[in-house]
Amino acid sequence: MKILLLGGSSFLGRAYAVEALARGHQVTTFNRGLRSPDLPGVEAVRGDRDSAEDLARLVGGRRWDAVVDTSAQQPAQVALSVRLLRERADHYTFVSSVHACADWATQVITEDSPLLPCPADTPPGQPFGRELKAGCERAALTGIGAERTLVLSSGLLVGPYEVGGRLPWWLERMARGGRVLAPGDPGRTVQVIDVRDFAAFGLDLLTAGTAGRFLTTAPPGQLTFGQWLETCREVAGAPGTELVRIDDGPLLAEGPDRVEPWTELPFWAPDLPDWAYIWQVDSSRARAAGLRCRPFAETARDTWDWLRTRGPAEDTDAEGRKAAPGSLFRQGIEPAKEQRLLAAHG
Ligand SMILES: NC(=O)c1ccc[n+]([C@@H]2O[C@H](COP(=O)([O-])OP(=O)(O)OC[C@H]3O[C@@H](n4cnc5c(N)ncnc54)[C@H](OP(=O)(O)O)[C@@H]3O)[C@@H](O)[C@H]2O)c1
Repeated sequence: MKILLLGGSSFLGRAYAVEALARGHQVTTFNRGLRSPDLPGVEAVRGDRDSAEDLARLVGGRRWDAVVDTSAQQPAQVALSVRLLRERADHYTFVSSVHACADWATQVITEDSPLLPCPADTPPGQPFGRELKAGCERAALTGIGAERTLVLSSGLLVGPYEVGGRLPWWLERMARGGRVLAPGDPGRTVQVIDVRDFAAFGLDLLTAGTAGRFLTTAPPGQLTFGQWLETCREVAGAPGTELVRIDDGPLLAEGPDRVEPWTELPFWAPDLPDWAYIWQVDSSRARAAGLRCRPFAETARDTWDWLRTRGPAEDTDAEGRKAAPGSLFRQGIEPAKEQRLLAAHG
């Protein structure tokens, strides 16, 4: 098949490109060229999807069997691309997020859960908000039609080429060694999906011409946070690395050493009502349709292999900025703060 990847150079889009090429498809990628080098074998077209001229140049006289949109964050971006592509492709996959559901994290969500309000014709340039992905879904469905649109609502993505740096942060932290702050209840679960499993599933559905909506993530209860940390320690930890548990309470206490869940300690979702169901997304429909999720240990190992061997061209963030020397990642607790917390509570 001829497949157009809007994105295609980074993380999920790159995983789609690798898998599609391996299956013998012809792949066109469209991005600004700020991220990883182009994969050998793709037809790489440079351009900004906010520019109608760039998109028109991409489309030219071409036709594709399917489009996979891994780069839209704004409904206006989707509206523009579907206007130009609806007659040029048979099938459109839009990669959304589970957080577009109104009750995400506070209730178990399914494909039938209501989306956040956000119209398809929301003007461009909105500041980030969970609702924007809901508007993007509406723009894809309005522009292409439900019978040709596949919406894959993604859970948290992990795997090689994760420039956002959540799993890489933990792997790098274990490699630094010493006493490592292990936040909260180790029995709480974590629910993520490897980009390679997502891409394989997405391509299976695309080649079958499947339409509809799938919450695409691993089963709830896939692994516990304690197992997650232990796996990261086994894969990347310096000799003698020790996990030191500290309960949610002291980490959330107001004061200069309060820890920001999620950003300072990635994947730490404390036991609060607003987070109660964050790792309880019902992905049974996707699994019934063929989604298979590899063991987390394999993801952690492959991500660590990538981190140790990546080239400097991959050390850029979403805006193409170079990362600080020694680390790709801007998130993560300051080492001195972590040590103060360990001394006080560990
Ligand atoms: N990462 C997660 O955990 C997660 C969770 C849920 C949903 N999702 C969704 O999954 C999708 C893929 O995520 P990701 O983490 O793989 O994204 P990513 O690493 O930020 O990759 C985005 C891709 O889109 C291209 N792109 C971005 N802005 C563009 C523009 N204006 N014009 C043309 N190309 C543009 C980028 O290349 P250039 O920068 O070179 O243009 C890159 O190839 C996104 O829609 C994201 O919202 C991700």
